[in-house]
Amino acid sequence: MKALITAGGKGTRLRPITNTHNKHLIPIANKPMISYAIEAVAEAGIREIGIVINPDTGSELQRALGGGEAWGVKLSYVMQEAPLGLAHVVRVARDFIGNEPFVFYLGDNVIVGGVQRFIEQFTESGDQCRLVLARVRDPERFGVPELRDGRIVGVVEKPAQPKSDFAVTGIYLYDRHIFEAVDAIAPSARGELEISDAHQYLIDHGYKVGYSEITGWWKDTGKPEDLLEANRLVLDRICEQPEGFRPGQVDGQSDIAGKVILEPGATITGSQIRGPVIIGARTVIENSYVGPFTAIGPDCMIRNSEVEYSIVLDRCRIIDADIRIERSLLGREAEIIRCKTKPMTQKFIVGDQSRIELT
Ligand code: DAU
Repeated sequence: MKALITAGGKGTRLRPITNTHNKHLIPIANKPMISYAIEAVAEAGIREIGIVINPDTGSELQRALGGGEAWGVKLSYVMQEAPLGLAHVVRVARDFIGNEPFVFYLGDNVIVGGVQRFIEQFTESGDQCRLVLARVRDPERFGVPELRDGRIVGVVEKPAQPKSDFAVTGIYLYDRHIFEAVDAIAPSARGELEISDAHQYLIDHGYKVGYSEITGWWKDTGKPEDLLEANRLVLDRICEQPEGFRPGQVDGQSDIAGKVILEPGATITGSQIRGPVIIGARTVIENSYVGPFTAIGPDCMIRNSEVEYSIVLDRCRIIDADIRIERSLLGREAEIIRCKTKPMTQKFIVGDQSRIELT
């Protein structure tokens, strides 16, 4: 079995970060989001993985992920020239997949518990397509199935009137019949070849479309608050770093509690850290508080400041900020700095589509 993982699309809801970088490389607990998808399929024993990229950010992804050596898999890159929809992604990956069954995994989905169970259920069921569902509060944001007697009888993309409180998550299992479906459907009103329409085609043509349910945790990281939530979930599950692992990294004036991972060369002086927290390589935290569910990237400087429940990317500087920074996402090299000279005004140099909330 092969796997196909998406890493294209537009990432518009995560601007401005996605103005300069591919969304799937945004770190969650200091690892690129897409690495969780690769890990999940590698853990299920899949060795051949296709990554669908776009012309704008494809080379950045290739540089970051390489040939897949880090996961013991072989990564191949499949170019999608324009973001024409998820069914279009399947179309362009036809040569890579061949006639084998495969897992289609949206690279912006993060789940707990892996995909092995779903693959086994798919193989045992003899289904032509198996969708992984999760119960959600806001089904209208997703593809929504209509269920009857344990079967899926319909799927509608982002319906105004959802027929169930399930979302179709971004994990799909297919045999070769999906290619017939993606070739047959027409673009939707928003101009995309919708994967939900391909599923509806399979149902309408008498193919067996089954489902498995995610009972644990699943997140589609479309929006900044979803990213923070995914970061929380992953940090909640990180393992304790052994005490003796941090020689020279934490001074006697600092107080560390809970699960805290310090990457090589990170140093903490005169600070309070309340885990779960991960602090990136060579980052310096001085006289500051870092609270639960925070991931600070490499080469950052945090001095005389407080940060909690946030994602801070590489090379940021937060200095003398006497506000608590919370529920925040700071892109690479962002700076929040208190300026001590008069006049005492707020000064912003803010990139396109940035957002600052003042209280
Ligand atoms: O996350 C689950 C949802 O994903 C499903 O419930 C929906 O049925 C499905 O259509 C999809 O909806 P989204 O609106 O969340 O899809 P999005 O456009 O965000 O793209 C999902 C992933 O696919 C993301 O990794 C970007 C990538 N992508 C997307 C498109 C449209 C591509 O690589 N190429 C594309 O053309």
